[in-house]
Amino acid sequence: MSTTLIDPFQRAISYLRVSVTDRCDFRCVYCMSETMQFLPKKELLTLEELDRMCSTFVRLGVRKLRITGGEPLVRRDIMTFFHAMGRHLESGALDELTLTTNGSQLHRFADQLHAAGVRRINVSLDTLDEAKFARVTRWGRLAQVLKGIDAAQAAGLRVKINTVALKGFNEDEIFALTDWCASRDMDLTFIEVMPMGDLGGEDRVGQYWPLSDLRARLATRYTMTDLPKRTGGPARYMRLEETGQDVGFITPLTHNFCESCNRVRLTCTGELYMCLGQEDMADLRAPLRASADDRVLEQAIRAAISLKPKGHDFDYSRQEVAGQMSRHMSHTGG
Ligand code: GTP
Ligand code: 5AD
Ligand code: SF4
Repeated sequence: MSTTLIDPFQRAISYLRVSVTDRCDFRCVYCMSETMQFLPKKELLTLEELDRMCSTFVRLGVRKLRITGGEPLVRRDIMTFFHAMGRHLESGALDELTLTTNGSQLHRFADQLHAAGVRRINVSLDTLDEAKFARVTRWGRLAQVLKGIDAAQAAGLRVKINTVALKGFNEDEIFALTDWCASRDMDLTFIEVMPMGDLGGEDRVGQYWPLSDLRARLATRYTMTDLPKRTGGPARYMRLEETGQDVGFITPLTHNFCESCNRVRLTCTGELYMCLGQEDMADLRAPLRASADDRVLEQAIRAAISLKPKGHDFDYSRQEVAGQMSRHMSHTGG
């Protein structure tokens, strides 16, 4: 039996994103509604089950593991899980163990993350203005996130800032964010807002700021060169010649990148979403619990990968939202 997971479009699946909780200590306006209903704790996979699940994927050829949420660092005892996954780095089975975080708990966990083998993290940050930060995250405090970023850098973690481009919200801050990242030797990636989940009245098309516009605005100040660099994620990178910085662009709307997709997403209840922008999913919790023999789970994983869709159908080009998902981003962690 081949140990590599290949989907129907000949894409090798080598990247697993794992949402370890649907909960979060923020309520970002493009991610959650104010009145989210979270899963009862008994629905969650235990940390031991998450370990078995991820280890099976690693055995089947996954080389990059990204821990997401909700906010992954609010899950109780999550460091136990990071340390457990660190063994796959030590054995050479895994190239990268990383996480995407809102940064609120980094001051508590940065050192332990580094000790577990994490070397690079992505921190979501859309603005450097305290009042705007409070507005976009509803519950967040900028100072706490900045303290977390300091702690991460002090612990030796490389930090990439993820900024969702939001019309009328951070348009006026792209140079400030770029300069701030350059001054702190942090990478920066801009993301187009995707129609994930019903936000109770938030206007998606109104939020949407195409990165083609953002890039053109950056080009008024910087000389920008396309880079062949890939990190295994969906971003395409450009070098800003004046600062030497690499800036990433994640453009599901203006430039579809599904063709080179190498990833699937596991939720905290053991659902496997084969595409961020489609409803298709496979329940892996039942096969996991049905047998102590990992071959049952392996078979379920292969069956799921054989159903991976070609790509998402997100589209705002008719001034209305197409391809909307009913689930929120916090369900699969992006
Ligand atoms: P690197 O490993 O640093 O390249 O990061 P990454 O881009 O893989 O991961 P990150 O968690 O920083 O993801 C950034 C954003 O990209 C998130 O908002 C995700 O929702 C989005 N994203 C990741 N994968 C996909 C995908 O397959 N399709 C779409 N449409 N968006 C994705
Ligand atoms: N569209 C694009 N990015 C989103 N994120 C959350 N919701 C959305 C959305 N609707 C981003 C967060 C974080 C990552 C996990 O996903 O800002 O960086
Ligand atoms: Fe929490 Fe991240 Fe969603 Fe913001 S984007 S509410 S930080 S899960």
